[in-house]
Amino acid sequence: MKRQSYLIAASVVTAISAAAYAHTGATGIVKERMDAMSVMSKAVKSISKMMMGETPYDADVVKQGAALIKNHAGEAMTSQFPEGSLQKPSVAKPEIWTNWDEFVSLADRLGVLADGLEAAADNGPMMAGGNAEGHMMGEGGANMMGGGSMMGDGASGMMSGSGNMMGGGRDMMLDPAVLARMPADGVFNMLAQTCSSCHTKFRIEKK
Ligand code: HEC
Repeated sequence: MKRQSYLIAASVVTAISAAAYAHTGATGIVKERMDAMSVMSKAVKSISKMMMGETPYDADVVKQGAALIKNHAGEAMTSQFPEGSLQKPSVAKPEIWTNWDEFVSLADRLGVLADGLEAAADNGPMMAGGNAEGHMMGEGGANMMGGGSMMGDGASGMMSGSGNMMGGGRDMMLDPAVLARMPADGVFNMLAQTCSSCHTKFRIEKK
C-alpha cells in the first residue's frame, strides 16, 4: 500500500516537472499561464513530499497549497486560454478550443478537488503512517488506482458513474462532503491526476 502510493505520487511529480523547462521567452498571456502553472507545480511538489513521508506532514501547508491551486483553477485558468493563443513557446494544443467544454470541466474539477484537499487536510494522510491507516481500505489493502474499495466500487457515489479516477470525465460529479472525509493523500492523488489528465489531452509532450 505504502509503496504503491509512493509510486503514484512520484510518477505524477515526474510527469509534472518534466515539462517545466520550456518556459523561457514566453510573453503575454502565455507567460501568465505558464507562471500560474509553475506556481501550482511548486505547491504540488511540496505537498507530494509530505504525502510520501519525505517531509513531515503539515496540514497548514497542505491547506495553503490547496488554496493556491484553487485560486488558479476554474475560470482563473480557462480565462488564460483565449482562443488560438498558441504563441511560442506555448505547448498548448489547439484541441483546447475544439474541446472547450472538456477543458473547462477539467479546470473546474481541479478547483473542486483543491477545495476538497483544503477540507481534508486535517484528516492527514492514510499512507504515510497517518492515524487514518486502514480506515478506508478494503480487504487485503486494495490499491489506490485499481478497483480497490476506496477508489473503485466504494467510491461510485463520488465518481458518478464513470468510475474512473483518471479524471477527464465530463459529468464527473465530485461531492465536497465525501472529499472532506477522505484521507488527504487520497484527495491529493485525485487532484494530481487531474493535472496529468489535462496535460495528456491538451499539452504537447516534448520528449
Ligand atoms: C484544464 C487543463 C489543465 C489543468 C487542470 C492543469 N494544467 Fe498545467 N498546463 C496546461 C496546458 C494547456 C499547459 C501548456 C501551456 C502553454 O504552454 O501554453 C500547461 C502547462 C503546465 C506547466 C508548464 C509551465 C511552463 O512553465 O512551461 C506546468 C509545470 C503545469 N502545467 C503544472 C500543472 C499542475 C501542477 C496542475 C495541477 C495542480 C496543472 N498544471 C493543471 C493545462 C492544464
